[in-house]
Amino acid sequence: MVSWTHKYAPQSRSEVIGNTTSVNSIIGFLNRFRNSKLKTKKSKNALLLFGPPGIGKTSSVIAVAKSLNFDVVIVNASDKRNKSSLQTVKNASQFSSLAESLNDKIVGQILLIDEVDGLSGTADRGGIREIIEIIKSTRVPIILTANDISNQKFRTLRSHCELSRFDSPEENEIIKILKRIAKAESITVTDKVLLVIIKNSKYDIRGSINSLQTLSSGRNVITEGDLSILSYRDQSVDIREFLRSVFIERDGEKAARQTRLLTDVDYNKLLLILRDVTARIIGQDDYKLLAEVYSLLSRADLALSRASRQRIWSQLYYYYFHVTKGLTALLPTIDYLPPFQDWQLQVPQFWITLSRQRRGKNIALKVGKSCLVSANVAIRDIFPYLRVIFNNDPVMAADLALEFKLFDIEAGKRKTKIVWNKEIDYFAKDLAINRKIKSLIRSKYPLIEKIQKQDIDENTLLEVQEQQEALKKSYKLKLAMSEKKEKRRKSKASRSPKKKKSTKKLPSDQTLSVDKTKTEKTKKKQKKAKKPPKTLSEFF
Ligand SMILES: Nc1ncnc2c1ncn2[C@@H]1O[C@H](COP(=O)(O)OP(=O)(O)O)[C@@H](O)[C@H]1O
Ligand SMILES: [Mg+2]
Repeated sequence: MVSWTHKYAPQSRSEVIGNTTSVNSIIGFLNRFRNSKLKTKKSKNALLLFGPPGIGKTSSVIAVAKSLNFDVVIVNASDKRNKSSLQTVKNASQFSSLAESLNDKIVGQILLIDEVDGLSGTADRGGIREIIEIIKSTRVPIILTANDISNQKFRTLRSHCELSRFDSPEENEIIKILKRIAKAESITVTDKVLLVIIKNSKYDIRGSINSLQTLSSGRNVITEGDLSILSYRDQSVDIREFLRSVFIERDGEKAARQTRLLTDVDYNKLLLILRDVTARIIGQDDYKLLAEVYSLLSRADLALSRASRQRIWSQLYYYYFHVTKGLTALLPTIDYLPPFQDWQLQVPQFWITLSRQRRGKNIALKVGKSCLVSANVAIRDIFPYLRVIFNNDPVMAADLALEFKLFDIEAGKRKTKIVWNKEIDYFAKDLAINRKIKSLIRSKYPLIEKIQKQDIDENTLLEVQEQQEALKKSYKLKLAMSEKKEKRRKSKASRSPKKKKSTKKLPSDQTLSVDKTKTEKTKKKQKKAKKPPKTLSEFF
């Protein structure tokens, strides 16, 4: 039996439905390489398409390439049996195929590395590095696909590729695809049934097509009654259903039951969504009610974190309670659900930027407080300088970090800990300097403790400042010393062969004429004579 996903895969650009921007990015990328296999230096050699599985990444590339008369060599990277897949990729990137020379129509060749994040060997950084090398040295343009490239380990890879994101298609787009297939197979099916199929496969085109094929085996009409064949989890509740129960039906009991069955959203995201929706419903005017709702949600958040961090699972009960019965009790009745941010799709990037922004904002607040400017002004006017300082002058950076308190201090029984919160890292990207800054701060730590304990009078403040100056000086001295040592080592290395000769000759001459005791004395004298300059040279 031919699988319908294969049978009805789009054959040309015009059959590819949805994801217009990404598809256009493929077309743009390929057009650049028409008739010329090699790169121009400015543009990148590789295009990386990423998005959830089953939504048309691979088939779009193939269809578009066909339409533009490109010959595609596919390395199916996720085939784990192929242990030497990296080698295969390498080889494929170095030779253009025969098709090009045999077929006049073909205007160029591309290499498709499918599902690069599943490629055996890319599980570690070494494998990714190799892929990057392949991209650098390739003779043919490369298109890569991946499901999830948000992991840090793909950072360098991302920077070597043009990126294009594939999104889950819209309901009506998948319906179009399914209807086309149903028509071709002479199957009668309603939109309503198709919608259930689509939802059940979580907006995955491949999954939807497969379900349709399963349902239609042995029949020409598919009805709602047939849906039970799909191990359809009618247990699962989607976020819209849940929100309807809370905001429109205001059925707390039902909502509480549903909370446990939510499948497409986690409990943290749910809080964000609830906050978003309630804010729209209540509006800014009724701030008292808004405050009540927010405090309720914050209590739910607290219960959630107790449950997940301290594993006090009974706290989940309070979470369920607050977000359902608690909310319904507070809210006015509404009859339609306002639009809300679809956090689900945006979450990965959203969390990343938010946490980065939050860190930046926190630092900006601290810096602004010290400099008596707002956080925004701090970001605009002060941060650029801090970045320069924190990457060049560890001493000054450490001083500033102390002044702005770019770290937290946790007092334990024996030791006091410094918690960095990545605030230093935010500015100091140079690892060596970053370490220096931190060790400088650590060395000043006892003093910080004094200030923290708030027994500051002018004398101790002066003392602190003096000690800081001393530390700064000693650090500079250390730096200078290590530099001088380096210099001496270098000069020694260049002169050493001559020196060795002279020192060897002298004693041998002496031993001929003078007895042992004398030589010992002269040796001692030499030692004594040598010692002071050694230490002196270290000091100056
Ligand atoms: N835009 C589309 N138009 C029509 N069918 C599509 C489209 N995208 C995907 N399909 C169907 O879905 C199947 C899976 O798509 P595929 O490209 O393999 O997804 P991915 O590479 O994102 O995992 C294809 O075999 C094809 O039949
Ligand atoms: Mg694919």
